[in-house]
Amino acid sequence: MKKLFIVANWKSYETNFEAIQWIAKFSDYNFATLNNKEIIVCPPFTVLSELATYIRKNKLPVRLGAQNVSPFPKGAHTGEVNAEEIKVLGDYVIIGHSERRNEFGEDDEMLKQKVNIAIENGLMPIFCVQGVETCIPEGVEIVAYEPVFAIGTGKPDTPENANDVIGKIKEINSVEYVLYGGSVTPENVDSFTSKKLIDGVLVGGASLDPDKFFKIIENS
Ligand code: PGA
Repeated sequence: MKKLFIVANWKSYETNFEAIQWIAKFSDYNFATLNNKEIIVCPPFTVLSELATYIRKNKLPVRLGAQNVSPFPKGAHTGEVNAEEIKVLGDYVIIGHSERRNEFGEDDEMLKQKVNIAIENGLMPIFCVQGVETCIPEGVEIVAYEPVFAIGTGKPDTPENANDVIGKIKEINSVEYVLYGGSVTPENVDSFTSKKLIDGVLVGGASLDPDKFFKIIENS
């Protein structure tokens, strides 16, 4: 059975109270048969610490990640959260999401800096691309193909096209895993993860509901 990464991207949603409600509900599920699946939750920075404590205490098979990382090491960078700080709480970081590229002007150079500093600090980047042409910095092992037209629209790419694009990404770059992201639901997840070249999914909207997110994991 191939390894699958099932990643929740909570974006700018969930207060501490809501996050604890989410994880408490999620922890009721039976994870025993999900050995080949790496479950990764990427919440806002503000709830990482509380979730980390809960996951450790309840021995849940859930890994944590951040949705962003400072391109700088610790220092006088007001408002930034650096890789060393994130690594204390989680193992992954989403880098290059189209929302950050478009809303915050993150360019290839800055994304490369973020990837480098994440890797130096032992974080695994989940690097988002919108298609084959997006440049992927060296050292990235996990990529998420997320076509902009599919993000938050309820109109996912076709599994066939996603598999083709992911095949090309793997051909051109030396990346190990490529996930699909964009309007993934419990109903359509299997059509993506059953494709030979797709190594998992990055889930936005549907990951905010713990029942739906567990169904996505189960159905993948
Ligand atoms: P969506 O978002 O699942 O809500 O389409 C995916 C993403 O932006 O990572």
